[in-house]
Amino acid sequence: MAKLKTKWICQNCGYETAKYLGKCPDCGQWNTFVEEVTEQSSPIQKKIVLNDIKPCLINEIEVDNSIRFSTGIEEFDRVLGGGLVQGSIVLLAGDPGIGKSTILLQTGKSICKDGRKALYVSAEESASQVKLRAQRLGVNSNSLYIYSQTNFDAIKQQINEIKPEILIIDSIQAVYSTDITSSPGSVSQIRECTNILMDIAKNKNITVVVIGHVTKEGNIAGPKVLEHMVDTVIYFEGDRYKSYRLLRCMKNRFGTTNEVGVFNMCDDGLHEISNPSEMFLNERTKNNTPGSVIIATNEGTRPLLIEIQALVGTTSYPSPRRVSNGIDYNRLLQILAVLEKRIGLNLSKQDVYVNVIGGLEIDEPAADLGVALAVATCARDVCVSPDTVIVGEIGLSGEIRAVNNLDKRIKEAEKLGFKRIIVPASNKINKTEFKNIQITEAERLMDAITSCINRVE
Ligand SMILES: Nc1ncnc2c1ncn2[C@@H]1O[C@H](COP(=O)(O)OP(=O)(O)OP(=O)(O)O)[C@@H](O)[C@H]1O
Ligand SMILES: [Mg+2]
Ligand SMILES: [Zn+2]
Repeated sequence: MAKLKTKWICQNCGYETAKYLGKCPDCGQWNTFVEEVTEQSSPIQKKIVLNDIKPCLINEIEVDNSIRFSTGIEEFDRVLGGGLVQGSIVLLAGDPGIGKSTILLQTGKSICKDGRKALYVSAEESASQVKLRAQRLGVNSNSLYIYSQTNFDAIKQQINEIKPEILIIDSIQAVYSTDITSSPGSVSQIRECTNILMDIAKNKNITVVVIGHVTKEGNIAGPKVLEHMVDTVIYFEGDRYKSYRLLRCMKNRFGTTNEVGVFNMCDDGLHEISNPSEMFLNERTKNNTPGSVIIATNEGTRPLLIEIQALVGTTSYPSPRRVSNGIDYNRLLQILAVLEKRIGLNLSKQDVYVNVIGGLEIDEPAADLGVALAVATCARDVCVSPDTVIVGEIGLSGEIRAVNNLDKRIKEAEKLGFKRIIVPASNKINKTEFKNIQITEAERLMDAITSCINRVE
């Protein structure tokens, strides 16, 4: 009889130990260990299978130009680096209800073009539930199979029978392999199932897209292990209270990782937004408002104009509050320190709140100058003219440092009808290229502040 062996496995990172631990020595999380039973065949039975692959010289390896096919959604293709690569395995991760099933079902129509067969394994919903959604999204196809199944052995059998070119697993946490006794969604199950899927992808040349749920902490439930195994990791994010959704690439073996796709969630599915700046700016008031500044950030290869708001007021707490939504808290403290030291703006008795409109997260330093101006204008009750865009990183001595892709940012501001943009002088751009926007170069924080505020009458 096979011996039963139990292991304690960290459900966050997959770390294994023989006994219970309160804190994971690998990822540092508390209370993440769960006992999982793994059947172990005796060592004699376990044969090592050698395959006939031998090392070869790099110059002699033949390249099979990976074939890509379109998902039919331009934004999705861009995030993938130009479409799905045949024989690759993609992980689509996101919060519950964000629209993971929706986006993959929506791709059903175009990935099944030219008679290409796709198998959509719905482990969470019944076939008729999927059909209802398909009707709502207007998806119909003669080569898209829907299979409501959680047992991996049955799924494998259907893969062999149908021989699809694309396999979608919705979701990896809901399927289970009978070879493993632990429950669906546990690290061992996810690891085992993903291993089988990798094997299917590479050996049968099937493109596999796997849906993964994200836990409260923002990890893909349990296994970071999963991220290492797959070729591409894509996160689907969004604000629960807003209809827009962002598709962000975290890892890509076939393209860059800094692309972002923007969508709007409607009754009839996800709509691509090819000009996100317009969407993020359309609620803005056109009047002069102290503390409101438009900045040009970069999302992937695309510029994005967004509004930053600051609120500064006398504190009623023993120590003043600093609250930042959408920008790094320590970054905000640093900007405030520079404002105090280099500009002489006294904020020691003031609460400072900074908010990026639209629930976006900005993680690039090019937003510094915008944040500084939002705080400074609010503190002094003056305004940056609403037709002005601000770009620049702030150094600790108050100098304004160069940012990347400045040309694209200026073009975006020009395209959306802004009249003026403040940029770092050290970028040395060719001003004659831009006819419809006035470019002001600033060397130091003080220059930027005076040139903005002078314009307010
Ligand atoms: N008429 C509608 N009926 C149902 N859902 C709608 C409708 N219109 C828009 N939606 C959106 O679709 C979302 C559900 O999408 P979907 O089922 O694809 O998400 P999911 O990420 O797969 O969720 P889960 O984690 O439950 O699998 C809802 O949260 C809602 O925002
Ligand atoms: Mg779903
Ligand atoms: Zn761990």
